[in-house]
Amino acid sequence: MAGEGSKKIIRFGVIGCGLMGKEFASAASRWCHLADVDFEPRITAVCDANPAATAWFEQAVPSVERSYTDYRELLADPNVDAVYCAVPHNLHAQLYIDIIRAGKHLLGEKPFGIDAAANAAIMEALSERPEVIVRCSSEFPFFPGAMQLTEWVREGRFGRIIEVEAGFWHSSDLDPNKPINWKRRIATNGEYGCMGDLGMHVLHLPLRYGWKPKSVRALLSKIVPERPDGKGGMAPCETWDNAILACDVETADQVFPMVLSTKRIAPGHANTWFLRIQGTELSAEFTTKYPKQVASLPYTPGASQAWHVADAPYKSAYGTITGGIFEFGFSDSILQMWAAFCDEVANGPDRMTQPFRCATPEEAAGSHRVFTAALESQRTGWTIPLNWGE
Ligand SMILES: NC(=O)c1ccc[n+]([C@@H]2O[C@H](COP(=O)([O-])OP(=O)(O)OC[C@H]3O[C@@H](n4cnc5c(N)ncnc54)[C@H](O)[C@@H]3O)[C@@H](O)[C@H]2O)c1
Repeated sequence: MAGEGSKKIIRFGVIGCGLMGKEFASAASRWCHLADVDFEPRITAVCDANPAATAWFEQAVPSVERSYTDYRELLADPNVDAVYCAVPHNLHAQLYIDIIRAGKHLLGEKPFGIDAAANAAIMEALSERPEVIVRCSSEFPFFPGAMQLTEWVREGRFGRIIEVEAGFWHSSDLDPNKPINWKRRIATNGEYGCMGDLGMHVLHLPLRYGWKPKSVRALLSKIVPERPDGKGGMAPCETWDNAILACDVETADQVFPMVLSTKRIAPGHANTWFLRIQGTELSAEFTTKYPKQVASLPYTPGASQAWHVADAPYKSAYGTITGGIFEFGFSDSILQMWAAFCDEVANGPDRMTQPFRCATPEEAAGSHRVFTAALESQRTGWTIPLNWGE
């Protein structure tokens, strides 16, 4: 890490220069959007197995000094302090372990390993290098509306929790003419299917709140059986399109049902992430479908039950130059997540400038427990108990 003026500069290598690699480049390029942060990422090196992918970075990101096609060369680069790794799921274990062993801080993409064994191998490598800061990408909790719900949970405002529903819904796969990609194949996306692809987003806040499922009953569905292979033929879609998980949550003082859903085929939804919490004293809901709004229903016995829908002001974890009346969006949530990661790298886990950290490896490992149990539930038709080893 280098100092430049009063700012700590974190030199980043990006491995995997596809959709998400570019999102990071965009966030790093508009760091001036953030007010009063004493740290800044600088992408100095990029790597992709496909040289056409790094060419975009060479053109669009002036700070890039070196491009590689072999990630091991990037890891040997002494001018790289930290790595963002956004590659298909079958590569997570090998690459994340090598990044951690190289002593580079890592923001890795979910699901943090293609399956439970891959995730366990990553966790093992992490236990050997505790000084390396490793976090898992998950940006939606940084929406102001989601942060509002987190604050109400922290304040214990809900009373006795009646039930919780969390989900992440897409609809682009409703189109049977959409060509096959790596997310539809078990070899690259894993047997978890839509759960591995979308599930960490859904579980991040429940796990952060301590709402660990005690058991899970899963209903998984495959809807589109084959897709154009891009070569004039058709290829089988091997992964689960949709998943509904009915969970039984037990905390120190509460027991309640929680429904988690991850759907690649939810007609009408483009990228809808939502959290609904119903309680005896407060119910509340935030969905990215209406990104400005938070719905809440405070209740006292005998009083009327009325939902209030209010526009959430642009109040983010890290202050910005944006006025409070403007809208917050997807790329803002990515920027905020990156600020949280860089804050932790620059200032240390105990000295962050605000309290909400990125998803932890332990939370990602928790999501693997839930998905693995869900696969067993689908195979057997049973409700599967989860052992959190506590
Ligand atoms: N946080 C989010 O909202 C979000 C959204 C989409 C995807 N993701 C995650 O990001 C990761 C990547 O997904 P994506 O949509 O960006 O995929 P993508 O296909 O757009 O990009 C992946 C890139 O990895 C490259 N690659 C493949 N093998 C490589 C290797 N051995 N070395 C270096 N590069 C290699 C590919 O050439 C490609 O450019 C996945 O883990 C996915 O789950 C996260």
